[in-house]
Formats: sequence, C-alpha cells, structure tokens
Amino acid sequence: MTDETIVDPPQPVVDVANVGDWNTLLESAVADPEGFWEAEAQELEWSKPWDKVLDRSDAPFFKWFTGARTNIVTNAVDRHLNTARRNKLALIWVGEDTSKVRTFSYFSLAREVEQMANILLSMGVRKGDVVTIYLPRIPELFFAMLACAKIGAVHSVVFAGYSSEALNQRIDGSESKVVITVDGSWINGKVFPMKQIVDDAVKFSPTVENVIVVRNTESEVTMDPTRDHWYHELCKLPIAKGRCETVQVDAEDPLFILYTSGSTGKPKGVVHTHGGYQVHLSATMKYCMDIHEEDRWWCTADPGWITGTSYVIYAPLLRGATTFMAEGSPVFPYPDVWWQLIEHYGINSMFTAPTAIRTLMRFGDAWVRKHDLSSLRILFSAGEPLNPEAWQWFHDVVGNGKCAVIDTWFQTETGAMQLTSLPTMPKKPGSAGKPIPGQEVAVVDEDGKEVPPGTDGFLVLKNPWPSMLRTLYKEPERYVDTYWSKYPGVYLTGDSARIDEDGYVWIIGRTDDVIKVSGHRIGTAEVETAVGSHPAVAECAAIGLPHEVKGNAIHMVVVLHTGYEPSKDLIADIRAHVAETLSPIAKPDTIDFVEKLPKTRSGKIMRRVLKARALGEDEGDLSTLDD
Ligand code: PRX
Repeated sequence: MTDETIVDPPQPVVDVANVGDWNTLLESAVADPEGFWEAEAQELEWSKPWDKVLDRSDAPFFKWFTGARTNIVTNAVDRHLNTARRNKLALIWVGEDTSKVRTFSYFSLAREVEQMANILLSMGVRKGDVVTIYLPRIPELFFAMLACAKIGAVHSVVFAGYSSEALNQRIDGSESKVVITVDGSWINGKVFPMKQIVDDAVKFSPTVENVIVVRNTESEVTMDPTRDHWYHELCKLPIAKGRCETVQVDAEDPLFILYTSGSTGKPKGVVHTHGGYQVHLSATMKYCMDIHEEDRWWCTADPGWITGTSYVIYAPLLRGATTFMAEGSPVFPYPDVWWQLIEHYGINSMFTAPTAIRTLMRFGDAWVRKHDLSSLRILFSAGEPLNPEAWQWFHDVVGNGKCAVIDTWFQTETGAMQLTSLPTMPKKPGSAGKPIPGQEVAVVDEDGKEVPPGTDGFLVLKNPWPSMLRTLYKEPERYVDTYWSKYPGVYLTGDSARIDEDGYVWIIGRTDDVIKVSGHRIGTAEVETAVGSHPAVAECAAIGLPHEVKGNAIHMVVVLHTGYEPSKDLIADIRAHVAETLSPIAKPDTIDFVEKLPKTRSGKIMRRVLKARALGEDEGDLSTLDD
C-alpha cells in the first residue's frame, strides 16, 4: 500500500454516520473554530454560561469557556438520570476470569460514585486536592475518578504497571494525601502485588494520610491500621451513605493530572480541566467515534494512559453510551478472548492499539473466524502508527471487510484526538488522517517554515483546542519551553510527519527522547535512571529500535564499573532491576556492553550514532564526536 491507496468507507457505516458530508464539516469548522466548539458546548449542561469561548490574552496559557461553571460529572453521569438513560447500562465489566461480570446502570453508577465521594470527603479531601489512584481495570477505577471530579478534587491516575519508585515519584510530585489502590491485580492468572508496591512507595511519601484498599484478588496484604482502610468496610459506615452533591467548578478548574514521559527523568504532570475537555471529548465521540445511542463501545486502553482516561471513562459517559471494560490481556487465557467478548456482549465499536492488533494477528485468522463478530461497525486504533499490514488484517479478518478501520492520533497533552479519518471519509491505510474539525496542522522545517507536501518535518498544531493541556503541574516554564518556544504561536507535538498532496498526515515517529514501546510512552531518561541505579552500571544510554510487534523496543548500551564483567546473568539482573524500580513495560529488550559511549565534546551522548550502529546504518557526520 502506498500514499495513493484509498479505501472508501463501507456503505453501512456511511448510511448511519453522524457526519454526512465530512468535507463541509471540516471546512465550516476551520473557518470558525470558536463557533464550532461553542455549538458543541451547547449540547452540554453548564450551571453558568461562558463569557468567552477562547481567551488568548495570556497565551500560551489559553483558557476556554471562561466564566462558565460546570462539572464533567454533571454531564457524564447526573444529567442522564433525568432521561431514559437512567436505567441504561453505563458500564459492563468483565474480569480476567471472564465468568466474573459486573454491570452498572447510569443510576447505579451515580450511587457508587456518590459513595466513594462521601468517603473522600470524610477523609478531608476538598476542591483542588490531588488524589492518587493506583488501580487496575476494575469498576472502582470509574468510581474513584468520577468521585474526585464530583467533589472538585483532582485525580492523578498512575498506570497499574508502574513500580514503587515510579509511583512514589508521582505521589510526591502531586502531594497527594489519599491513595486509592487494591490488594492485588490479576495478570495472566497471577496476582501482581499492588498494595505491597503502594506500601513501598508511601514509606517515603510524607503527605499520604489515608490509603483506601479495594478488595480484588483476596490476596494477603499488610494493613497499617493508622493509614489503610478496606473500601468495603468504609462503604458500610454512615459517612459513606446519602446523597453527595456534584460541586459546580469553574470551567478552567483542574480535573486531572496525568504524568507522562518527557526528555528528562522527571515525568511531566499534564494538567487537564473540566470545561474544554468535556466539550472536546463529547464532540470527537460524536463525529469521529460516531457513537450512537444504542451502541456498546469498547476501548481496550488502560485509564493509566490518556486513551483510557478519555475514551474508556469520560467520552462514552458524556454521550450516554454503554462502555465496556475488560480486566484481562488480549491473549489470556486464549488468543480469542477478545473475539469471544465482542461476540458475547455485542460490541459495536472497538478502539485498540496497533501493538495489540499485531500480537493477535500473529496467532492467525482461525481464532477470529471462530466467532460471530457481525455486531462490529467501526474499528479504531491509536498510540503509534497503524502499519498497512495490520490495518488490512484488522479490516479483512476482524472487520470481515464490512467495518471502517480508523487510525487516530493524539497525545496525553492534547487530551483528545487531533487527527483522524472521519467515518465517511476515504481512508489511506498507514496514515493518521486529517485534522479533526476546528484544527489545522502543519509540517515545518528546523526554522519553522512549512515544507512542501510529501516532505518530512516537525508536526505542529496551529489552533488552540478545548481539551489542550493547560500547563505542566507546578512547572509552567517547562510547559512554555517544551511546547511553545521552538516555534512561537504553534504547538510543537514532538513528532515527525509528512502531509501528502491530499492533506493526509503520515506520522513517522518521535523526534525527542521518548520511545513508544507497545504504545506505552517511555522516556529514555527514565530508563537510563533505572538502569544507571544498578550497582554494576557506570553509564548507559537507551535508544528505541524498530520491533515487529511492539513498534519499538528498548536497546541499552551500558558501560560497566571496573570489577564487573558482561554476562547473561548480569543482563537478566539489570532487566529485573528495571522492572522493580520503574516498570516491567520499560525492561530493555537488548543490552550491549561497551567500553565507552560516543559523546560530543560537551559530554552529550550521541544516541544517533548508537542507533545507526545498532541498525548497521551509516553513522553520518562524526565531526562533533569527542573520541
Ligand atoms: O508519537 C505519537 C504517538 O504517541 C505519542 C503520544 O503518546 P501518549 O502521550 O501516550 O498519547 C497516546 C494517545 C493515543 C504521539 O506523540 N502516537 C499517538 N497516536 C499515534 C501515534 N503515532 C502514530 N500514529 C498514531 N495514530
């Protein structure tokens, strides 16, 4: 497949799509982005209307819907209780053991959220306080996030695969007084000891006063009576009972912090707010995800990452849809567990990651073909480039040639999608599509000049958008430096891309020190800190190398302290050390031992040279190399 390959959307998708003439929608929205977003905002409830749609006066600290008061929970939960959606399923949850199923109507979800909110209030959590949530994919994750939002607190969800040091860093960064966790989580039939990880993390976190523990695996844990509380016990107390009002907040008040990797070892706390975020999610869920009242929507992402926060939790609930969540992995206990779930629960739209598609593709078509997947209408992907082979397999085998396959591009920072092919738009497999309504993008060269179609360069977003990050938590200068200073007036994505003659964007990859491994965003500096803290390691550098299933794999180049010799055992030990201190997802795939790292005269490691050498490519200009 090439840039010229164009696939028309299937007629049944076009017939029911929320977007008719996509060209007219894009043209009218881009002619008046603020008008477009204002009309979308009018579909939601606000207890006080806005004075201004977009305030640019303090750019790049843009403000949306200034003066308005609202709460995302009013729109994602409360307002549905006054309609027939009250008794509609909001959430269907299936455990890793698929015989464990829990379902919640909008009404019962509202009650669960109230209960969690009452408990948080009883612990002294107030508007603006940050609560760290370290939970696997279980319904309590919904309750916890929505409960924080309901009382105006700010949630900081930490991916359940992070280890104690990484968790500690994120708890301390946000100064959380409360952590919500579980005894353990299920991973491929085994218990991952999450409470133990929290115990290790909070040992060094002076701010944490209370830890709420949800019983999940029934495994044994140590409870500190002065700090730890079983959630099911708290729920029995009078403090948990009764109604809890949804606090109306300013549209610009923070809703959550999501830590993500950047170019230093210190994760960035990306801040999102109530007002603009809900508008952007609601609009993309309608136009791009094409959600319908009767749909069952399954986004397989984990809410520890932005795709999950936005498209598992908030976006489907904002549109009053039924969202589906599975606790387990795509291949456990069998590589057809996902197909079985789609068949059994009648899923209409699925949103997943290229790495999952490639993993499942390797098991062969027969596992898919065993199942009746005719309920599916649209298949989405995000997180890394969806290569044409994976696109084709998703289209032909999973979609049986009858579904639209749509790649979407966004970032933790953008909150919601920025590039996609609208359901009625012709698709170019391998491309991330065009900017969403109201957005414009460009590809520029080193000097910020737009390059001609077909030329590679840096991808920038030209228009502010409602779900944009507002700042980096407690680091406003880093916010300005990272995103707005290289090319003033436009947002720097950190990706390289090209735009073809038809305006379709082709993402090439990151241009900074971030590696996407199986769609997970990992900073080279974070892995280097973890590897560097192993007693045998004197110095090291991490690079990403192409990998057939994961997209990229981490390759480590290591200089050992004198007295240590390279060995297989040492490699295994370093990998285990990374799993323990950072996360199992950040373990290097390969480790090379060298005498010296290539550096510039000012001491900067030349990763470009390491990469070229690992790939057997030309090492390029070496004139700045010290030795
Ligand atoms: O490099 C891009 C890649 O993922 C990065 C953002 O990662 P994260 O903050 O974890 O948010 C993921 C949200 C989907 C981007 O800078 N990326 C995301 N989507 C795509 C992608 N690369 C290629 N194609 C995509 N569709």
